[in-house]
Amino acid sequence: MKGIILAGGTGSRLFPITKAVSKQLLPIYDKPMIYYPLSVLMLADIREVLIISTEKDIPLFKHLLGTGEDIGMKFSYQVQDKPKGIADAFIIGEDFIGDDHVALILGDNIFYGQGFSDTLQSANKLTNGAIVFGYYVNNPKEYGVVEFDQEGKVLSLEEKPANPKSNYAIPGLYFYDHKVIDIAKNIKPSARGEIEITAVNEEYLKLGELKVELLGRGLAWLDTGTSKGLLEANNYVEAVQNRQGLYIGCIEEVAFRKKYIDKAQLLKLSESMKNTDYGNYLKFLATR
Ligand code: TTP
Repeated sequence: MKGIILAGGTGSRLFPITKAVSKQLLPIYDKPMIYYPLSVLMLADIREVLIISTEKDIPLFKHLLGTGEDIGMKFSYQVQDKPKGIADAFIIGEDFIGDDHVALILGDNIFYGQGFSDTLQSANKLTNGAIVFGYYVNNPKEYGVVEFDQEGKVLSLEEKPANPKSNYAIPGLYFYDHKVIDIAKNIKPSARGEIEITAVNEEYLKLGELKVELLGRGLAWLDTGTSKGLLEANNYVEAVQNRQGLYIGCIEEVAFRKKYIDKAQLLKLSESMKNTDYGNYLKFLATR
C-alpha cells in the first residue's frame, strides 16, 4: 500500500496567514501540521509516501521532510498546478501508485484516539474496493455526508449537502484499490470545478465495493481549516501532550516504535533539536 498526502490548496479560509505559506506547514502546537497526517500513514504501516502540494510550497516540504531516509521512510514530491479537487491526487500520483493500493490523507486532517492504529492496520489489509470512514459531527453541511441503514449499509453519499441526511461526515482519509486511478480519470468536474472525492466514493458504492467504517466518539478528528479550528487543534495537542507526556503526531517516535530506525538514529535526530521539548522527548524515548 502506497500513501499520498494532499497538501496543496489555497487555504483561503485562513487568509492572511496562508497568503505566503502553505496551511500544512503551519504549527499545530510544537510541530508542523503535515506531521500529523504523515504519522497516520506511518501508523498504517505505509512506508512510501507521495506529498502533493503547490509549486511554491513543494521546495519547503522537501526542506522539511527530505527523502524520508532519516526516519526509514521514502518520500517523493509532485506539484498540483491548481486546486482541481481531492480526487486529482490519483491522477497526479498515477505513476507513484503503480499497481499498488493507495491511502490518501488530506494534509490538514488530524486524528487521534484509542484503537486508531488497529483501525489503520486493518484498512491497510484492503484487497479490493474502498474503505472510508464515518464520523459524527454537528456541522455535516461542510463535508461529504454518508447516509446508511440500520445494518450499516450505505444508502447515499452527498458532498456538502444543504439538507444532510445524517450527521456522519467522511473524514479526509481514504483507502482504495488500484481502480481508483481510472475512476478518478473519468470523473467530470463538479459545479465548483473540482474532481470530487465524493464522486469517486459514489463509483465504488455503485460497484458495491464501498465500505464505510464508523469512528467512535472516543476518537478526535480535528479540522484545522479556519483560525478557530487551528487554535482548537493547537490547544487540544498541548492539553493531551502535557497531561500524558506522550506526543501526538511525532513521526520520529512512530519510526522508532515500528523499528524503522534504531536508538542511535533516534538520538542523532534528538541531538539536532536539542534546544526543544521535542528534541528532549526523542532523547527520552531513546534512553528510557
Ligand atoms: P480544503 O480545506 O477544501 O481547501 P483549502 O485547504 O484550499 O482551504 P480553503 O477552503 O480555506 O481555501 O482542502 C482540504 C485539504 O486538501 C487541504 O489540506 C488542501 C488539500 N487540497 C489540495 O491539496 N488540492 C486540492 O485540489 C484540494 C481541493 C484540496
